[in-house]
Amino acid sequence: MERTFVMVKPDGVQRGLVGEIIARLERKGLKLVALKMVRVSEELARRHYAAHEGKPFFPGLIRFITSAPVVAMVWEGREAVAVVRNLLGPTDGAKAAPGTIRGDLANDIGFNLVHGSDSVESARREIDLWFRQDELLDWENHREAWLYDRG
Ligand code: GTP
Ligand code: MG
Repeated sequence: MERTFVMVKPDGVQRGLVGEIIARLERKGLKLVALKMVRVSEELARRHYAAHEGKPFFPGLIRFITSAPVVAMVWEGREAVAVVRNLLGPTDGAKAAPGTIRGDLANDIGFNLVHGSDSVESARREIDLWFRQDELLDWENHREAWLYDRG
C-alpha cells in the first residue's frame, strides 16, 4: 500500500488544529503508521524544502517551519499521495475550495497548516528524511475490509 509523508506545520500546532487534521485523514480511511512531534532544525528544514532553495519565499519558509513544533506523520492507503493532496487542497488557503483542509481552515499561501508529499518519489525521500525505519509501524487495520472493494 502507498505511503505519504504529512506534517502539521507550526501554524496548525499553534492554532490547535492537530486533532482536526488527524481526524480528517482518519475519517477518509487512511492508516496512520508513524507520528511524532518535532522541533525542526534549520538543517532538516533546508533538506525537506531543498527543491525551493533560491526562491524568494525560501528564507521565510525556513524561518516559519523552524519557529515552533510540527507534527510529522506517515499515512498509508490506496493512492495515499494523491488522496492526501486532494484533502489538503491547493497551496493558497485563501483560494482553496471549501471542503478541503486548507479551504476550510487556512487563509494564507505560507501559513497553510499542513504539508503532504507531492509524488510517490517525494514521499519516499521525505519519509526517509524524517523517520527511522523502526518508527514505521506495520499493523493491520480491520476497517480496511470495508474501505476497499477487493472483489
Ligand atoms: P507543501 O505541502 O508544504 O509542500 O505545499 P505545496 O506542495 O502545496 O506547495 P509548494 O511545495 O509549492 O511550496 C512549499 C511551501 O512553501 C508552501 O506550502 C508554502 O508554505 C510555501 N510557499 C510556496 N509558494 C509560496 C509563495 O509564493 N509565498 C510564500 N510566502 N510561501 C510560499
Ligand atoms: Mg510541496
